[in-house]
Amino acid sequence: MPNSNLKRHTSKRITLYNHKGGVGKTTLLVNIAAALADLGKRVLLVDADPQCNLTSYLVEAEVVDGWLDNSDAENGATIWSALKPFIEGTGDIQKIPVQERREGVFLIPGDIRLSEFEQELNQIWVECLQRKIRGFKGASAISHIVNEIAKQKKVDYVFYDIGPNIGPLNRVVLLDCDYFIIPAACDLFSVRALKTLGKTLFSWIQEWDIVYQLAPDNTLLLPGKPNYIGYILQRFRMYGDAIASQFASYASKLEKSTYSDVTEVLRRIDKNLAKGSLSQNRLGQVKDFASLVPYSQTQGVSFFDVEGGSVQQKYEAKREFTSIANKIITLTA
Ligand SMILES: Nc1ncnc2c1ncn2[C@@H]1O[C@H](COP(=O)(O)OP(=O)(O)O)[C@@H](O)[C@H]1O
Ligand SMILES: [Mg+2]
Repeated sequence: MPNSNLKRHTSKRITLYNHKGGVGKTTLLVNIAAALADLGKRVLLVDADPQCNLTSYLVEAEVVDGWLDNSDAENGATIWSALKPFIEGTGDIQKIPVQERREGVFLIPGDIRLSEFEQELNQIWVECLQRKIRGFKGASAISHIVNEIAKQKKVDYVFYDIGPNIGPLNRVVLLDCDYFIIPAACDLFSVRALKTLGKTLFSWIQEWDIVYQLAPDNTLLLPGKPNYIGYILQRFRMYGDAIASQFASYASKLEKSTYSDVTEVLRRIDKNLAKGSLSQNRLGQVKDFASLVPYSQTQGVSFFDVEGGSVQQKYEAKREFTSIANKIITLTA
């Protein structure tokens, strides 16, 4: 029976998820957000990784240090500042200022103390199963913060940046998302990781469905139906226009595994959770833009917005990320 829970803002929520580390999630997000903004979309980036790499990428070090040092204060600016009164039982979720990093791209800064919220989330999950209001509120606390800011800034897309693990923080983020994308490197470990990824999502979605059915009316609940829309191959090396042979064999294994380990697994719960065909799921192939990376990180901008660097590489980056952005727009329409 559907639950008459409170409504979220209508922006589309997406995350790039792979519990395997270093597959380029944070870098992809910075570039996809810039490409979407250039197509006239408004994007909110949420740094939900306690390592705060996204925040450090986009914001000058002194400013980030100031936010982190001050995040316990009443006027704190990070995601932890918003959560703190609720977690410590001293009040409700607090409003935080929104940071605009580029025209149409906003940021909710991360915080190393998000790991304290993550520790609470295990208890919060138990409280959900016990139908306690604190449980439902806690599980949707980040969703609530995002909701307010998405509404205030009228954003079209929300992208969560998350850490490389299968912990309870990533569980609430995934369950808040309408869509997810798998970033993967062309190597053996990425192929192997897909099985765990599919199984993890399967159990998160199924468990949440039970919680959802039990929940009282008029609660802000996580929707719990992240749709798989595709994968992005990351950092292969190009020789001429072909993928180098050792990468090519993993690229095709990877594609098959996304289908058997993710698409088919999610379809066992609900066909709509993974609707796309194999070719629709191929969102993009991002090559090694080694020469643009240091510019991008020190300037806090996308590969194609950097000052300096090779004009040809910037053109290629712009073309690839615009293509990915357009596919995201189509697949989430
Ligand atoms: N397209 C790319 N070309 C070259 N280096 C990249 C590219 N994408 C990411 N990197 C580098 O790979 C490393 C991991 O990327 P990152 O975005 O931090 O991954 P994750 O967020 O998945 O941990 C970083 O050092 C980053 O600079
Ligand atoms: Mg990262």
